[in-house]
Amino acid sequence: MMLGVIGHPIDHSKSPKIHSYWFMKNQMNGSYSRIDIAPEELKDGIKKLIDEGYKGFNVTIPHKEAIVELCDVVDETAQKIGAVNTVLIKDGKLVGINTDAYGFTQNIIAVQPKFSFKNKRIAVIGAGGAAKAILHGLVEKGASEIRLTNRTLEKANKLRDQFGGSINTFKWEQRHMILKNVDLLVNTTSLGMKGQPPLELDLDLLESKTIVNDIVYSPLMTDLLTQAKVHGNPYVTGIGMLLYQAQPAFKLWTGILPEVTQELGLRVLE
Ligand code: ATR
Repeated sequence: MMLGVIGHPIDHSKSPKIHSYWFMKNQMNGSYSRIDIAPEELKDGIKKLIDEGYKGFNVTIPHKEAIVELCDVVDETAQKIGAVNTVLIKDGKLVGINTDAYGFTQNIIAVQPKFSFKNKRIAVIGAGGAAKAILHGLVEKGASEIRLTNRTLEKANKLRDQFGGSINTFKWEQRHMILKNVDLLVNTTSLGMKGQPPLELDLDLLESKTIVNDIVYSPLMTDLLTQAKVHGNPYVTGIGMLLYQAQPAFKLWTGILPEVTQELGLRVLE
């Protein structure tokens, strides 16, 4: 079975490590490769994959939105998010789904099994590509109030209009005060990533029960999570979102729901 991930650039994708591990664990013969496709070559690049007999592929930056138009079938979640991250090739046709919202919510539940999103207040920092799936996941799971802030306020307002009523937007300067009385805080920005400035937030305003989640996983312990730990807050690292978004993709291609284990996490972070 030939699988892969398309993107541009694609050298740093960790997806091959995940899917190769699952091929091995399930004693399956299969390959999962990194495939670099420039934006202007997306259509031709995908045709090539169909012709070569690929069973499916993951989609990453910058193709997640453009691929929607090229799919023959797009599931409801991917339509709502406006992005596809997983494609199944079936009889030469492309079936697009989005597993990022599942990856996000499942990671939090896996680490904090007693937590439920229903009727909870959530602070979301950032309104870029990653925030879309996260907001969809939160709305779908019944969060009662989502406080969304972004450096560029217009982008936050756009996502509020797209994802609905429980979202209120706040100016970037207000990012500290929105932390009061929330059950969960999520960083969806690239701040805190290796080579980027840290996300500066005044965690003194957080209650001690608030769960803090960062979707950045390089480093695994971002400044935000280190601070949260010092404050005694429960926290959830970002690696699980990557692992859990891959799980339903592997199931779609192979029919097998693979296991997300600590060993897998360690291998991916190596
Ligand atoms: P992704 O797909 O990973 O979400 P993106 O769409 O480029 O990437 O979004 C990056 C996010 O990080 C955005 O919310 C961005 O804020 P803007 O919308 O204002 O650009 C945020 N971000 C990146 N660098 C930032 C910085 N120095 N200060 C504040 N926010 C930053």
